[in-house]
Amino acid sequence: MADFLWWRDGVIYQIYPRSFKDSNDDGIGDLPGITEKLDYLQDLGVDAIWLSPVYPSPDFDFGYDIADYYDIDQKFGGMAAFDKLLVEAHNRNIHVIMDLVLNHTSDQHPWFQQSRSSIDNLFRDWYIWKKSLKDGKKPNNWQSRFGDSGWELDKNTEEYYFHMFFKEQPDLNWRNPKVVQEILDMIKFWLDKGVDGFRLDVFNAYFKDADFKNNPYKMGLTKFDQQKHINDIDQPEMFDFLKKFRSLLDSYPNRYAVGETFMGDHQTAANYMGDKALHGAFDFSFQSNRYNPASFFKTIQRWEHVLDQKGWPNYFINNHDVIRSASRYTKSEDDDRLKILATLMMTLRGTPFLYYGEEIGMRDIPITKKSEVLDPVGRHFWPFYKGRDGCRSPMQWSEDQFAGFSKQKPWLPVHDNYSWRNVESQNSNPESLLKFYKNLLRIRKMNQVFQKGMYLPITYEPHKLLAFIRQTADQTALIALNFSKRHVGLVLSSQLLSGDWKLLISNKRDSFPTVRDRKIMLEGNEALVLLNG
Ligand code: GLC
Repeated sequence: MADFLWWRDGVIYQIYPRSFKDSNDDGIGDLPGITEKLDYLQDLGVDAIWLSPVYPSPDFDFGYDIADYYDIDQKFGGMAAFDKLLVEAHNRNIHVIMDLVLNHTSDQHPWFQQSRSSIDNLFRDWYIWKKSLKDGKKPNNWQSRFGDSGWELDKNTEEYYFHMFFKEQPDLNWRNPKVVQEILDMIKFWLDKGVDGFRLDVFNAYFKDADFKNNPYKMGLTKFDQQKHINDIDQPEMFDFLKKFRSLLDSYPNRYAVGETFMGDHQTAANYMGDKALHGAFDFSFQSNRYNPASFFKTIQRWEHVLDQKGWPNYFINNHDVIRSASRYTKSEDDDRLKILATLMMTLRGTPFLYYGEEIGMRDIPITKKSEVLDPVGRHFWPFYKGRDGCRSPMQWSEDQFAGFSKQKPWLPVHDNYSWRNVESQNSNPESLLKFYKNLLRIRKMNQVFQKGMYLPITYEPHKLLAFIRQTADQTALIALNFSKRHVGLVLSSQLLSGDWKLLISNKRDSFPTVRDRKIMLEGNEALVLLNG
C-alpha cells in the first residue's frame, strides 16, 4: 500500500531481550536469538520491534540503568549482533525501535563515576548535586518512585545527588546544555546506524524545577503518592528539548518516537504529541481497565476526545512493568477473553503495541518467595508488591525443555504451562490464540479502514457489549465484542444494516450471523468483525 506508514498503520511488538530467545545457551536471551526469530515475527505480521534496553548495563534494573549509550552489551551479542539484527529486520520490512533511558544513567556510567569523584570534576554538573540544608536536612522533599527519599548522600563529597528511581540510577542534569548536546549526538549515532525509532523511558521526568521547590502534599498510600508531582516532573523546558529532538528525527526519513508518560494520564500524554514534539506518548489507562465494556469504552472515548485530530492514539494492554493481561483478566487458562481484547486492540484507531508472548496468551509466572525475586522493585516492596519478574519470564516457543528458549536453565523460570501453551502447538491449532492474532493482523493490514478509518462508537452495555464502527470513504467495518458468557443482541439501524456486509473474522462462527428484527445475535464471548465495501 502506497501510503502505508509503519508506525501509524502498522503493529509494534515489544521484546524484552533477556527473555525472547537465547542463542548461546547461557540462560539469557540475546540479539542473535531475536534474529533467529524474525521469520516468526514476520509471519505474525508485525511491522516493528521495540527492544527493551540492550546497552551495556550492570543490570541493577535489568538494562534500565545504562552504563554506555554507544554500545551493545556483550551478553546480548555486542554491536556486531545488533548490526546483523538491524539488516535482517529491515530485509523483512520490520522496523527497529530502541529504548532510550535518558532520565538517569547507571551509577557505573563513567560520567557518574567522574561526577562523584570531586566537586570540581568536569562532569560534576552532569548530574543533580545539592548541598544539605543548614540543619543537615535533605535538599527538599522529593521522593524516589522506587521508595524512600530521592536524595542520596555521597560520602566522598558530602553532597546529595538526586535519583527518581534507585540510588544506582542517578538522574542526569538536563539543565546542563552539555548533557543535552551529548544526548542529541548519541541519538544521531543510532539514527546514522539506521535505527527507525525510539521509545523514551520516563521522558517527562528529565527536567526538574530550577529552584528545587518542594512538592505539595496530597493524600496517598506511599510517601511518593503523598505528593503532587508538580516540581519533579512535567517542567515546561521539556518542550524545547522535544523540539530539537524532533527536528533531528525529521532530518531522517520516516523516523518515530514514542514516550513513556511517567505518572501522566491521557491529557498529559496528549500534550506531548505533535509536529514539534513526539509522534506518540503512552496513556496507561488501558492497563488498569476492568474486564468490562464500560471501562474500555470510557478510556477510548477520553483518548479520542483529547487527541482529536492533533495526535495519533496508541493502545497497549501489556508491557514489561505490569501483570500480563492474561493473568489480569482471566483466572483460568481459557483464552476467550484474550480474543475479545485482541480484536479490540487490532481494530481501534491507533497503533497497537503487543508485548512478547501476548499472542500466545502467556501468563505471569507465580512469585512466591522473596529470596527468588530478581526485580529490585519487588525486593524493595516485598510482600506488598512482588515486583515485575512475573511478566518477564522466557518466551514459550515449544514443548522442549525450557520451552525451547534455551538449553540452559533460564535467568527466570519458564511458566509451568509451557508444555502445551507454546508457539509450536498453537501454530498447528487453527483455533488457537496465536492463529487468531495472525488473522487479525492480516485483516488489519489488508483493509485500510482499520488503519485510517474514523472511529464511531455505536453502543456499550456494561458487562455485556461494546460495538463501534470504523469508516473510510470506501469501507465500513463493524466491530462487536460480547464481553459476557451469554448471547447478546446488537440492535442496528436499518440504514447501517443495508449494504453488502461480509464476515471478516469471528472466534465463534464461520458464516455471516443471522439478523432478525435489525438485531445481530452474538454468541457468548464472541468477537465479531464485519466489513462493508
Ligand atoms: C520505566 C521502565 C521501568 C524502569 C523505570 C526506571 O518505567 O519501564 O522498567 O524500571 O523506567 O528506568
